[in-house]
Formats: sequence, C-alpha cells, structure tokens
Amino acid sequence: MAAKPIESLMEKLVSLCKRRGYIFQSSEIYGGLSSCWDYGPLGTELKQNVKDFWWRWMTMERDDVDGLDASILMHPKIWEASGHVEGFTDPLVDCKNCKQRFRADMVEGAKCPACGNEALTEARMFNLMLKTYIGPVEDDTALIYLRPETAQGIFVNFLNVQTAMHRKIPFGIAQIGKAFRNEITPGNFIFRTREFEQMEMQYFVKPGTDEEWFEKWKEDRMNFYLALGLKKEKLRWREHGPDELAHYARTAFDIEYEFPFGWQELEGVHNRTDFDLAKHNEYSGKSNLSYFDESTGERYVPYVIETSAGVDRTMLTCLVDAYDEEEERVVLRLPPKLAPIKAGVFPLVKKEGMVAAAKDIYEALRKKHKTFYDEGGSIGRRYRRQDEAGTPLGITTDGQTLEDNTVTIRERDLMEQVRVPVPEVVDWVTRYVEEGKAEG
Ligand code: GAP
Repeated sequence: MAAKPIESLMEKLVSLCKRRGYIFQSSEIYGGLSSCWDYGPLGTELKQNVKDFWWRWMTMERDDVDGLDASILMHPKIWEASGHVEGFTDPLVDCKNCKQRFRADMVEGAKCPACGNEALTEARMFNLMLKTYIGPVEDDTALIYLRPETAQGIFVNFLNVQTAMHRKIPFGIAQIGKAFRNEITPGNFIFRTREFEQMEMQYFVKPGTDEEWFEKWKEDRMNFYLALGLKKEKLRWREHGPDELAHYARTAFDIEYEFPFGWQELEGVHNRTDFDLAKHNEYSGKSNLSYFDESTGERYVPYVIETSAGVDRTMLTCLVDAYDEEEERVVLRLPPKLAPIKAGVFPLVKKEGMVAAAKDIYEALRKKHKTFYDEGGSIGRRYRRQDEAGTPLGITTDGQTLEDNTVTIRERDLMEQVRVPVPEVVDWVTRYVEEGKAEG
C-alpha cells in the first residue's frame, strides 16, 4: 500500500479552516473560483477582531488620525493621475505548450515551470486593475476600475477631512476596505488573492520632516504586530531596492513574516512624497490639495507616509503563527483578543442541574462575549474541538456546581483549571480577554 503523503503545514491549516468554519473556497459547489475565498462564521469573527484591533490602534489610541470609508468605484481619471493606468503592471509570459501564465519576474529563462518545455513567450506588460462599466451602456466612456488600493480614496479626500476636522499638519487618515487586483499568480491560500481588504493609513507631513516621520511610523508598525501577538522572531524588515520601488514611492520598507512558504511581505511602509496630491492637483485642474500653515504663512503640498496592510494577509499570519500540534491535539493559540469565540460552556454530563446551570452561564456570558454552548459528546472531545477552533476558555458545570455554585474554567494553552464562583464568571472572562491572561 502506498504511504499516505505527509501533509504540509499549509495543507493542514487549509483543512482546519474549512473544518472549523474559518475559510471556505468561494463558489465551491460549482468547482470553486480560483483565488477567491469565503469567510465562515469563525473567519468572519477573526477578521472583524483584526480590523477592530487596527482601527483602535490607529484612530482611538492616538489622536492625530481620522477615519474614512470612501467608495470602491471612483472617477476613472483618479487612476490616470495616480499612475495606475500607465504603471500598475506586471510582466506576463505565456507557455505556448501548456497555456499556463506566469509573472516573468518569477521564472528563469524560457523554460515553463509547469510543463518544463522551452516554450515561454516574450514578456508583455499586463495591467492589474479590474475593469467594469458604470451605467447601462458598455462603452469606453463608461469604463471604470475596481480600486487596486484604498489609498486614492484618502488622497482625493485630503482637503475634505482636513477642513471638516480642523486638522493641522501632521495628521493622518485611516481606512479599511476592499481592493481588487487581477493578479497573474495568486495563491498560497488567502495570501495573494484577486479580491482582498486593505487597512491603510496616509500621514500628511511637512516636506523635510518626512524622513523623521517615516522612522516613527516604522517603529509604530512593528510594535503593532508585536501587540497583535505575533512571534517576534518571525518578523523582520526588508528595504525595497531601487528596481522594485512602486512608481509612487521614494523609500519603501516591508514588514515580512516567515510563512511556511518563506519570508513574505505582510505590510508596506512607504514614503510617497507629494506624488499623489501633486498629480491630483494637476489632473483635476483644481490645485487645491495643499495646506496653508497659518503659523508661518506658508502654503505647501504635504508629503505622505503610508502604512499599508492587508486584512486577509494579517489573518493568515495570525492563523499560521497560532497553529500548533501536540501529541493529543491540534491547537490554535490565538490571543484571546483575536479568538473568534472567547469561551465554550459545557455541562460535564447531560444531567438536568448541570445543563440548566451551564445554560444560565451561557446566557449571561454571550451578552458580552462571543460564547459557544455544547453538551454533545465526551468533555474531552468538546475541549479538543474548541482547542482547534482557537477558543481560549472552557467553562464546565459539574457535580460540585450544584453544591457550591462554582465552575471550572480551563485555559486552552496550559490546560490548567481553576474554580470560579458562578456570579464572578462574566467579570473573570472579561478580565481574561482584556488582559490576555488569567489572574494571579
Ligand atoms: N497603497 C499601497 C499598496 O497597496 P502594496 O504593497 O501593493 O501597497 C499593501 O499592498 C498590502 O496589501 C500588502 O502588504 C498586502 O498585505 C496587501 N495585499 C496586496 N496585494 C494583495 C493581494 N493580491 N492579496 C492579498 N493581500 C494583498
């Protein structure tokens, strides 16, 4: 009998994500749609928790960044001004033999990485923007793009936000939203997809202070990922060489994470200078995207430091970082603040008193935290299911509950149990979720 192939960590993660309701293949019953994914019940919660953490970090824990939610469809001239119509391209090669397509910078010579034939075409430039038509007539005048980055919505609203919020420079605008790219080679699960979400922040500064702010934001962004709970040794910086800088960037550094498929970009921090605002001034013919400094009487076009992260990619990173296997169990060690479900509530056995007590706790707890009630199967199996789902706490009612109104609370990581009086359970869990650890 042939030996069963050893599953890679990514394969195990993909199947756990499906099994536990994190991520499903899009359009699965029709055979799937390449590189598109749907977030299931737990995936939706994790995604929301990642976004909430970023939003709080950017717009609440500091007082110099405002939020924005711009539309995905924007005036097509925006993408001419931003340089995306002209320059947002990847070099594409086709295999004349097997018809597969590759990014030219990811293959060597004319040999096809799929079929091995020396049959690759010359590279041609391929624009990554997805197009559609607005209105009932599908002609060139109705052509618009699905935004390939959320940033442009921020640039064109610079003056609106600055005026409405009476902001003085330096200040920033933060946004979370969908972006679309017709990637030639998507892959690695939700790492590179054609539809994804970005969390971007543009920080507007006085020219000449941009390098100082760039350094401050670099430090802040690495701190963000450490606060998110990622392993420090899996994170590093990488500077872009002159040949790989995006068309808008003077300086660019990526925060990289060591995925099972190698070190890869998690977030980009870019010095975009006055490139975008100056281009919008030119293309809109309005020249009003500038700043008047009342204290000095100067008017200037601000420079922009950009921090640009992917929601889906951050999620994947959290899942990879949290995945762990022990002899008896698979466990997702997600930090409590990110975990989709904070606590499972279980009667030890299906006896009336224990069931009623567990249901009361569940009702009280779920008003504050995402909670899961489960009375089916052995307690060991119920714990294991929640370990795999990343649930940090298991609360169990047992015989003693009926005598002294206490329950056991089991921690996922250490599997240690403490006894807590029932009236204190909600506060205990709240403290645990906020502080990420048990008392004492
Ligand atoms: N506004 C600048 C910008 O968009 P980028 O380096 O092209 O910069 C920023 O993208 C981040 O967006 C990446 O670090 C990644 O997290 C995410 N991202 C980009 N393309 C992606 C894709 N095809 N699938 C998933 N995430 C993507």
